Amino acid sequence: MGADQIHQRTELIKKGVWVGLTGIVSIATVSMINSGFTQSLIYQSLWGALLGLISGVLALGILPFLEMGFRILTPLKLIEIANPNHPLMKRLLMEAPGTYQHSMSVANLAEGAAEAIGADALLVRAGAFFHDVGKIKRPMYFTENQSQWDNPHEGIPPQLSANIIISHIREGLELAREYQLPQEIYEFIATHQGTMRAGHFYNLAKEQSGEQNINQDDYTYPGPIPISKEASILMLADCSEAAVRSMPEPSQEKISEMVSKLVRTRVTNGQLDHSALSMREITAVEHSLVKRLTSMYHKRIQYRATPEEMMRETGKKSE
Ligand SMILES: [Fe+2]
Repeated sequence: MGADQIHQRTELIKKGVWVGLTGIVSIATVSMINSGFTQSLIYQSLWGALLGLISGVLALGILPFLEMGFRILTPLKLIEIANPNHPLMKRLLMEAPGTYQHSMSVANLAEGAAEAIGADALLVRAGAFFHDVGKIKRPMYFTENQSQWDNPHEGIPPQLSANIIISHIREGLELAREYQLPQEIYEFIATHQGTMRAGHFYNLAKEQSGEQNINQDDYTYPGPIPISKEASILMLADCSEAAVRSMPEPSQEKISEMVSKLVRTRVTNGQLDHSALSMREITAVEHSLVKRLTSMYHKRIQYRATPEEMMRETGKKSE
């Protein structure tokens, strides 16, 4: 039984019991063959069972020290942190509920895509949970949290808006350090926007001031671009969920068209140049995203409330 198959700490105890039972059978068989049934056979078998149980308890006790001392990210640790009860996730739920919902949706999408290409689905899930925690600092500036607030971007210069939006990467990394998230989660926070542009505010600034008067760096995410397959999957799942969520009538065709466009843009923009994903894997990820997004969103139009709400949502740009 490999460690990657053990997904709850109590399973270690169960494995210990199994090891103990196996010990009884083995010891009993060997003793019966060698010297027939004797009283010492019973004692030896009981010792075998006890040692199996002790090995499970020892593994359970030592594992947290190994995880900490050697900075090993075990599946058990991933399950522990990719948990709605994690203190940082509770904060996200309370302070930025829209972002919390978005992160849950992205986690489900990215997990499915990772499974489709044999990447680490558990790691992607954990990364997706925390990728946007930086939005806790100023939740009302992000589209998904604005149902209860007026849009605070109205009335401030686009450069300042872009700065606030882009800062959620740095602020997310600060929170990751504060809450001592495993180092592996940092890549998901740092790279989920790669070096893309905060396009909506860039276009707004261009309209207002003219392209020659604006500094492109002010509207560009700092990067870096993702390196692992898992962080690359998250990048694609994240932008796909945000875009499909703001579509007025998300039919399967429209979802497929949108995801394909977003993936193409990132590939041609060089955002996946350092990812370990092959073109075949990128296509498989795209198909998986379309499939899950369709089942998540295609019927949403049936309970959309009013035309005004639809206008309001389509008029906003997700970042
Ligand atoms: Fe996101």
